[in-house]
Amino acid sequence: MNSAKPELSPTQISQFLASRRSTRDFLSNPIPRDLLNEVLEDAMTAPSWSNTRPFLVAIAEGEVKERISKEFLNRWANVSKNLRKGLLGKITLLLTRYGLPTSNRLVGKPYSKDLKPRSMRLGAELLGSMGISRENKDARDKWWATNYEFYGAPTELFIYIHKSLGIFSASDAGLMMENLMLSAHARGLGTCAQGAVSIWDDVVRKEFDVPKNYRLLCGLAIGYPSDAPANSFKSHRIAANEITVSPRSTSA
Ligand SMILES: Cc1cc2nc3c(=O)[nH]c(=O)nc-3n(C[C@H](O)[C@H](O)[C@H](O)COP(=O)(O)O)c2cc1C
Repeated sequence: MNSAKPELSPTQISQFLASRRSTRDFLSNPIPRDLLNEVLEDAMTAPSWSNTRPFLVAIAEGEVKERISKEFLNRWANVSKNLRKGLLGKITLLLTRYGLPTSNRLVGKPYSKDLKPRSMRLGAELLGSMGISRENKDARDKWWATNYEFYGAPTELFIYIHKSLGIFSASDAGLMMENLMLSAHARGLGTCAQGAVSIWDDVVRKEFDVPKNYRLLCGLAIGYPSDAPANSFKSHRIAANEITVSPRSTSA
């Protein structure tokens, strides 16, 4: 017999799961430490590879968070300015190196052909919901910069994964993050996972003593959602049958 289930109907569970959405505009109100601890405790109820919990969470708040944000914004300002200047800007960037990724180089790399349309759709719909067109590069760069203000969240969590377990560390961290995000949602908090902040690990490590055998996976902004339009955005969902794979042959 599995552990006792709480008295929630499947429909209630489905509705709750579907009601979580990324928050991209936060009030500045701090999260009470007890509340954050409850959410972190819930995060620990997720399954984990051999129960190893191969991840660490750096909690950035107050001045620490501000210093990280400031450096991120400076780097992004230099990158976006030079990328908009064409070849000369790119050469300047390569020579000065300020703002180039120091950790996760996946961010900013082109998507593979099969995934690109999904990402493009998200970009077009999310930015479109805020009146930003694809052609308006300045506005798009400015919007991306809000990632580096953690969308105004009072707390940014930096999620580190143990290098030794490879993809299983990332999977475990993902499971933990989803528990964390749902627990936060149940308590009136909003969250946004942020791959955007994984490119400059050196900035975070300057503030936190993170062991060398851990690498930065992503950030996670957490706090109280504002009623800004960005938080009403509902991203598209592909149907479940688009991710299922059928057997090569169904005949016996
Ligand atoms: C690992 C990961 C990284 C993400 N990085 C970013 C990010 O850098 N900036 C952002 O605004 N949203 C980011 N997101 C949020 C996704 O865009 C979002 O989850 C997706 O569009 C589905 O929308 P929903 O969370 O509102 O359901 C990230 C999500 C995940 C799981």
